[in-house]
This record gives sequence, C-alpha cells and structure tokens, in this order.
Amino acid sequence: MTDRIAEHYTPEGDLAATIAAQLTRAGRDLSRLTTADLAAVDEFHVRGRAATLEIARWLEAGPGDLVLDIGSGLGGPARTLAETRGCRVVGVDLSPAYCAAATTLSSWVGLGERVSFRPGDATALPFGDGEFDAAMTLHVGMNIAAKPLMYGEARRVLKPGGRFTVYDVLQGEGGAVHFPVPWAGEPSISHLATPDEMESLLAQAGFEILHRHDSSNESLGWFEAMATRTSTAPPPATLQAVLGDAFPAMIRNQIANLRERRIRTVGYLCRA
Ligand SMILES: C[S@@+](CC[C@H](N)C(=O)[O-])C[C@H]1O[C@@H](n2cnc3c(N)ncnc32)[C@H](O)[C@@H]1O
Repeated sequence: MTDRIAEHYTPEGDLAATIAAQLTRAGRDLSRLTTADLAAVDEFHVRGRAATLEIARWLEAGPGDLVLDIGSGLGGPARTLAETRGCRVVGVDLSPAYCAAATTLSSWVGLGERVSFRPGDATALPFGDGEFDAAMTLHVGMNIAAKPLMYGEARRVLKPGGRFTVYDVLQGEGGAVHFPVPWAGEPSISHLATPDEMESLLAQAGFEILHRHDSSNESLGWFEAMATRTSTAPPPATLQAVLGDAFPAMIRNQIANLRERRIRTVGYLCRA
C-alpha cells in the first residue's frame, strides 16, 4: 500500500531543479527568495500558507521548542513554522524525493539550520518516546488506512502535555469523492475519516481535543480563486510542478467535492 502512495507522490525528475527553473524563468533571484514566494508550490494542502499560519498560532511553539511535522512534503509548513515562531522543526515523509527537495528549498530561504527532513513512515515513526514539544500533520491522514497507528505514534513521540494539530480532508455527507484529487488519482489510496471517526481516533490515541475548525467554506473560496488565477495570472511555480498534467482536473474536482459536501476540511488542536 505504501508503495502505491509513494508512487503517487514521486515526482518526475529533480523536483527542486524543476521549481528553480520555473522561478528563474519568471525572473526570480533564487538567492533572495522568501518562504512566501514558495507558498504556491510548497504548501501542499488546502488554503496553503494561511492554514499553516493558523496552525502555527494554535501550536504556540517558540524558540527552544522542537516540533515534528508528520508527512512534511516539500517542507513549506515546517519552514513557515520555524520562521514565524523561531522553533526548530523536523519533518518526516514517505517520499525520499520530497525530503531531498525540502532540504534544497530550505537552503534557498536560509532556514537550513532550523529545519531538517528525513524519510520515514507516519505509522512507525523513526523517533524515541517524548522527543518533541509539539507536532503537526497537514493533509496526510487521508492516505493512511492505519490511522490508529498513525495517531498513536504521534502521541508516543510527544512530551506529555505537548500540543498536536491535525489538519485533514475528511469524508463529507454528500457521497463518494470525485477523482482525481491531489492526494489520490483513484480511490484505492484514499482513506478519508468522517468527522465522528476522527474525534474517536484522536481520543483513542490519548489526545484531548481543545479546539476544532471546519474551514470547508473558506476552502471552496480558496479553490475558486485558484481556478481563476490559474487562467489569468498563475504564480511562477505551482503544485502543477509536483502533481503534473492532472492538476487542473484535480482543482475542478475539489471545487465539486466541496460544493457537493463530499469532503470537509477540518483542523483539530489537541493536547497529549
Ligand atoms: C498532500 S501532501 C502534504 C504535505 C505537507 N504536509 C504539506 O501540507 O505541505 C501529503 C504528504 O504525505 C506524505 N505521506 C503519505 N503517507 C505517508 C506515510 N505513511 N508516512 C509519511 N508520509 C506520508 C506524502 O509523501 C506527501 O508528502
């Protein structure tokens, strides 16, 4: 199963080189990039950087804290958190290619000392008990069938009382999801929990839910704005570099999935 998920997230060629070429073609100087310049390509979740900034506020991490990002992708959330809160962030992701690209992108924006990335599986984290002050996971659980293992592992590596944020796409009441979507080309690697299931999973893993935010309406507006921008003034590097030619169809399907309430986007702030 993880092979097919890794395949879905395996880019063609050298991802950092592709992104660098797109930015350079658009006249950007790679030595003067900011994390915001990369947000259209490295914040790989619905509502992009705005959602990460919301999570950064919830986690209340600060200088001296070590935060784990589970399923860190190209590292956008890890860099945004490290930059805005002054903490250190370790990312772990199934895709070695994403970890390599994340490391390169961090060096472009001068955050290589405060963020690091290593390959690993969310259901068997390569860390000891209680190593992290806080943890987050953005848009990862929807690829993972073994959710009790995933959230159990998150709880294990957190210090008692540590904050944990889950921001995920959940199954809505409107019926089966239209594919392809950014996390899956077809249903066999998509494992969406319902909101009720997510609450039980977090409680069973030993988390207390402090706050929840259903951002589905904002998500619909975000995708509609993205669809307009894509046809008028697209940013120089977008997630199309990562997801390929199916990207426009994925955006159309996400708009339909949200309008028809087939999916919800929900964030949870928890305490271990
Ligand atoms: C939609 S991307 C989100 C990336 C990142 N969290 C972000 O928001 O920018 C999903 C990520 O989850 C990773 N992933 C999927 N299953 C995983 C697993 N079992 N363990 C670790 N990472 C996983 C994928 O490789 C991919 O990078």
